Amino acid sequence: MYRDHNNSELNIKSLNKKVILSGWVQKIRDKGFIIWVDLRDRYGLTQLVFDTDRTSKDIMEKARELGREFVIQVEGTVIERESKNKSIPTGDIEVLVEKLIILNISETPPFTIEDETDGGEDLRMKYRYLDIRRNPVKNKLIFRSKVSMAVRNYLSQKDFIEVETPYLIKSTPEGARDFVVPSRMNAGQFYALPQSPQTFKQLLMVGGLDKYFQIVKCFRDEDLRADRQPEFTQIDCEMTFVEQEDILNTFEGLTKHLLKEIKGVEIKDFPRMTYDEAMQTYGNDKPDIRFGMKFGELNGVAQHKDFKVFNDAELVVGIAIPGAASYSRKDIDKLIEWMKRPQVGAKGMVYVKYNEDGSLKSSVDKFYDTSDLKAWAEKTGAQPGDLICVLSGKANATRGQLSALRMEMGKRLGLRKPNEFAPLWVVDFPLLEWDEDTQRFHAMHHPFTSPKEGQLELLATDPGAVKANAYDLVLNGNEIGGGSIRIHDQKTQSMMFDYLGFTKEEAEAQFGFLMKAFTYGAPPHGGIAFGLDRLVAILGGQESIRDFIAFPKNNSGRDIMIDAPAPIDEKQLKELDLKLRS
Ligand code: AMO
Repeated sequence: MYRDHNNSELNIKSLNKKVILSGWVQKIRDKGFIIWVDLRDRYGLTQLVFDTDRTSKDIMEKARELGREFVIQVEGTVIERESKNKSIPTGDIEVLVEKLIILNISETPPFTIEDETDGGEDLRMKYRYLDIRRNPVKNKLIFRSKVSMAVRNYLSQKDFIEVETPYLIKSTPEGARDFVVPSRMNAGQFYALPQSPQTFKQLLMVGGLDKYFQIVKCFRDEDLRADRQPEFTQIDCEMTFVEQEDILNTFEGLTKHLLKEIKGVEIKDFPRMTYDEAMQTYGNDKPDIRFGMKFGELNGVAQHKDFKVFNDAELVVGIAIPGAASYSRKDIDKLIEWMKRPQVGAKGMVYVKYNEDGSLKSSVDKFYDTSDLKAWAEKTGAQPGDLICVLSGKANATRGQLSALRMEMGKRLGLRKPNEFAPLWVVDFPLLEWDEDTQRFHAMHHPFTSPKEGQLELLATDPGAVKANAYDLVLNGNEIGGGSIRIHDQKTQSMMFDYLGFTKEEAEAQFGFLMKAFTYGAPPHGGIAFGLDRLVAILGGQESIRDFIAFPKNNSGRDIMIDAPAPIDEKQLKELDLKLRS
């Protein structure tokens, strides 16, 4: 037996007990006549003590051989500590060691295995297994497991069944590039790894399973950001005989349950907002509604003077930043520089100081008088003390830029509180989205999404205006889930492919199986997928998903611990009938 207790279990009630413990050596303090060792495992720390009065000479000697991260087993007696440590559960006791076995030795670790480590990101990723020994990383993995379990329990109780779908499949159109896998048995042919199990879950509905879920890996070859990984996990769900309302209610239930169960937070308000409203009010289809700074559209009160920049713009729009009227010229210039960085892309910014004494002073005083500025203040909801920031230009780009400013100021002003949770549904997404590169419309969600009732005809006349039965679940300014009510008849699906520029042959080659299934009594169905990594990170109060993934990839999509991706050898290439370009 390696242990009869873990390293967080012993306390004052355990005094005089004979115990066996195992774990890693966290810290050694050798005072000559007495040696203390902190023994660590997943559960906590227990202090071991060796001293010349009470410990045999050979064990004292063995204790002196120990180094950090050695794996040991000890037998000893629980005794009361002289100087107690109130911050850990075992802080009242220590174990006087009578027997010591070194189970394995360890090299000196490349960084300290402590909550605050001296290891940089790359080093920690290279030795991720050591990083995982640290509390902050370990706790995030335990937290993730807790969230997954709560999801499983909830959905199982609601009659969802978990079904595994294949990983070696054909391209799924979620909008990113596929990772492909060459087939040895079918030379010159490739599988694609699923960007999501979308088509399979729909086939499960045709198969009559009624309610499906799966906690499943998805693969997307796209540029990485803090909230994106090339392989990530979805809580993927689909339901039969449902309308949008049924899906929203079911998954509002799941979200509330998780917030209650995991964070102890009771959500009363679960607002819904149309896509158009979100874009107009927050410039963003995933607004963080924990704070205000709502957009005020100023076309009507800013395009009547000789200011050409505004007069030529499709949209003039502003926000009021609370308390920022006191910013110095230098502060404001810095903010404008921030807005002009390529990541945001604003050309410039007009501002109005709404001073505490009620006076208004702007960077465009040459063109506008106080009554104009008053009207701007009214539209942006500015109060004395606020700074009104105004941008202008093409509507979409300008909204995006002002949204970046809003989010940044929300952060700087401490309004994005990690322990406050504000979920909302964004509904009525457009069905299609114009793509400048290909000069045509693409499905905004995916091509299986159904248009709102009665809107199919609009496709011919005003495609950009067609709204879809599509919805996103947004939490604290992050898109944590998205889904739709699907097309379930073959004719409409075929029309959609046609509309999206697939030839009959292409549609048949890629999605013939689905359209065929639709001819055998496909029921009305719809669903949603949550990004589990994102959900867990946000519940954990963070926006970077990397630490909530045991073995994440870096920003270039590499796993630097196992050194992947890597070349394959000539023999393997040959077997796969592949040739590298020289
Ligand atoms: P969608 O593409 O919106 O929908 O994906 C669902 C959710 O998955 C998360 N997500 C990601 N998380 C981490 N890294 C990534 N690269 C990444 N990409 C997406 C997001 C997102 O909201 N099949 C549809 C769902 C459906 O229609 O039911 C789908 O995959 O949180």
